[in-house]
Amino acid sequence: MTRTLPLLLTLAGCSGGQLLALDLPAELPGPVVPEDNPLTEASVALGQRLFYDTRLSGDDAIACVTCHLPEHAFADPRPVSIGAHGDPTVRNSPGLINAAYYATMSWASPSLTRIEDFLLLPMFGDDPVEMGITGREDAVLARLEDDERYPALFRKAYGEPISLERARDALGSFVRSLVSFDSPYDHYTLLGEQDALTESEKRGMDLFFSEKFECHHCHGGMHLSRSLSHERLAHASIAFDNTGLYEAYPFNDLGLYESTGRPADEGRYRPPSLRNVALTAPYMHDGSVDTLEEVLTIYADGGRVLSSGPHAGDGRAHPAKSAFVIGFDATEQEFSDLLAFLRALTDVSLLDEERVSNPFER
Ligand code: HEC
Ligand code: HEC
Repeated sequence: MTRTLPLLLTLAGCSGGQLLALDLPAELPGPVVPEDNPLTEASVALGQRLFYDTRLSGDDAIACVTCHLPEHAFADPRPVSIGAHGDPTVRNSPGLINAAYYATMSWASPSLTRIEDFLLLPMFGDDPVEMGITGREDAVLARLEDDERYPALFRKAYGEPISLERARDALGSFVRSLVSFDSPYDHYTLLGEQDALTESEKRGMDLFFSEKFECHHCHGGMHLSRSLSHERLAHASIAFDNTGLYEAYPFNDLGLYESTGRPADEGRYRPPSLRNVALTAPYMHDGSVDTLEEVLTIYADGGRVLSSGPHAGDGRAHPAKSAFVIGFDATEQEFSDLLAFLRALTDVSLLDEERVSNPFER
């Protein structure tokens, strides 16, 4: 007895102690958690602090939160974001609430299935530089070591020593912990609260799930995206579609084609979850659509026609366009009902939780 007790204490200390219990409706599965990075209260607390901390970037210039703003459901209101050295990102920064349920991370990377693997890009990538840690690793580590809180937070979450790999894992845990199903739509469907949606929102929901509008084929299910993984799914549903935004996609980003080199994959992107979509403008992988009204017009037309500018052309004619994007006639009433439904997918209740909000603003 006297010999096993300290051992148990050490093990508990190294594995980050208490597992974090996610606040999910009973019938919904949790996200997949990698075996080598359990979701613990300590790792999430460490990840939370790192997420809001500019000291994690090479030049102490920007933080994750610079491009993932809580008030926009952790998306960026700029069409593309700007990295630590002033370089624009290729794509629009997506929201992070419920991102843990995607089968793959980023707009179009079929093999990046774990948040932890994806995070190497913003942290260490140089095309473009985002956080700009590469070449500045020692400076970043020294800053974390000199802080009054980090050494204890790291020790509690992962044991000694402080490392950037552990910082990445903690950020993975933090992002994975950002799950929430508390929108008016959830209150209506999961909790059966008949008054949670207005009549207009209910009509919009029926249109959304109808065969005329086709939205649900790509934005259906609990995640409102057909790209889905969770703890009860034996095989994740990996998905990418071309919605006819361009006749020829701009050469700097050809979507899934960038990974596969197959012409049929040009312009195919992961269908975004539509949760919180009212907060995450501008839209699409390159932030090239300003409003939800414009998004709906594009779908009604069966693709986007650009009459001027460097990418002028008829996106409806793209050979890789999905057969579900064929266009439809909609009345003004139907348009406004569909918009009302999309706005009823908003849920930022999570932001009130202390484990999510900015720890430097308390
Ligand atoms: C300079 C702006 C910028 C910074 C800084 C940044 N991100 Fe991002 N983030 C983006 C962009 C742009 C994308 C979309 C990338 C793509 O699809 O190719 C993205 C995507 C993501 C995704 C994938 C979400 C999804 O739906 O697949 C996660 C997770 C993420 N970022 C977390 C973080 C974390 C954690 C940090 C801090 C270490 C961070 N980001 C720093 C701009 C940024
Ligand atoms: C064939 C699959 C498919 C269908 C059908 C579809 N979408 Fe999409 N949706 C996507 C993909 C893929 C994107 C991202 C495209 C891109 O960025 O190039 C997207 C993007 C969006 C966006 C922008 C979200 C964001 O975060 O940028 C909204 C809003 C949206 N769709 C709503 C709808 C609605 C409403 C319908 C029905 C009228 C619909 N979609 C039908 C696949 C689909």
